[in-house]
Amino acid sequence: MTTLHADAPTLAIVIVGLPARGKTFISHKVMRYFNWLGYPTRQFNVGAYRRQHLGARLDHDFFDIRNETATVARNRVANMALDDMMAWFDSGGEVGIYDATNTTSARRRLIRERCEGRGIGVLFIESICGEETVEANIRATKLNSPDYEGIDPAQAARDFRARIEHYAEAYEHVDESDGSYIKLIDVGRKIELNGIAGFLPSRLVSFLVNLHTGERSILLTRHGQTLFNQAGRIGGDAELSDSGREFAYGLRDFYQREIAAKGLTASVWASTMQRSLATAEIVGRTDAMWWALSEIDAGICDGLTYPEIQNQHPDLFAARAADKLNYRYPQGESYTDLIQRTEPVVLELERQRAPVLVITHRAVARVLYGYLMGVPREKIPHVDVPLHVVFELTPRAYGCDEIQHRVGPANPGDSKIDWERDTRES
Ligand code: SIN
Repeated sequence: MTTLHADAPTLAIVIVGLPARGKTFISHKVMRYFNWLGYPTRQFNVGAYRRQHLGARLDHDFFDIRNETATVARNRVANMALDDMMAWFDSGGEVGIYDATNTTSARRRLIRERCEGRGIGVLFIESICGEETVEANIRATKLNSPDYEGIDPAQAARDFRARIEHYAEAYEHVDESDGSYIKLIDVGRKIELNGIAGFLPSRLVSFLVNLHTGERSILLTRHGQTLFNQAGRIGGDAELSDSGREFAYGLRDFYQREIAAKGLTASVWASTMQRSLATAEIVGRTDAMWWALSEIDAGICDGLTYPEIQNQHPDLFAARAADKLNYRYPQGESYTDLIQRTEPVVLELERQRAPVLVITHRAVARVLYGYLMGVPREKIPHVDVPLHVVFELTPRAYGCDEIQHRVGPANPGDSKIDWERDTRES
């Protein structure tokens, strides 16, 4: 994986908080965001190590600080996860997320000493939640966890609350003696910062302030088919074809049926290109126009067909095929450029609490889908995003649910194009 900044220092993000404070949710989100941006990031979840080496279904006594045998075993698995994080940095990892309770200052000091002794920066994220959020977290994640598989939910909830109490007895909040930290109160309702400096920590703050756990869907689609699509030409700013207009009317009906009829309102975001704006206009609303949602700039290849590119620029064609993620069209853009360009869109999508319908273009749809679904960066340029399909993506605690809706003509365009295998940007 390539990085955006050769001088980016390695960073250990150490999560702190009692059980059911959304620590793993935060870890997953940050891991997906940093990997998408190009910083190789891995999460080390001590609970998973404990389940793997000591077993799931351990009752709350196991987490009692007075239980000396269990404390030794728990420290052992915590250190295994820490050793693996160090090995990750040794192998070229740039960000490690140490996802555990880390509720005592002695534990945090030990982690800091190990990291800083090797030149790795340390940043704590402490998650503090009110009773309502804790209750919602317990219902959304903990009762379905392997720790409580097959156990009566009421008994599981009682045991889990007793586990929280054991941790609470020894809990010491993060303070200035811990060094750099971000304190998140109720997943971003209030945020406190200490000693935040540098590129990655600053990105992290912007990301975390937009995060929430409310449910809403992101509907991702491309504009309707255009005359350029029909001719097999990339780029340009062509008008919708008849088939493209038919899709736009289908999208308008989809909006009425799937959103308005359910009493919801979705913001409609379009790019600044006419094919996207024309699609939104038929849907009946355009709440935001983003230049950042416009199609990849194909530079000197704009307006050409793929066979023309292959004939006129064979070296370019071969270089792009060899590394589609990083290859930048002369006078144009690469997929890595698109990731940087769409970062503000991603932050804004995270912030939204109501559904959003994003009408964009193939390469940008791939990049946004890649972020939401956690697709490895090198695979993003190859994600299949056909015309006239709406991807309904609903963020959940540790990922996104996906439903694909075919809207309008299933096989648009002329017979020259094999739509099932089409890999062009349009
Ligand atoms: C667990 O074993 O579930 C969590 C361990 C910890 O982070 O304290």
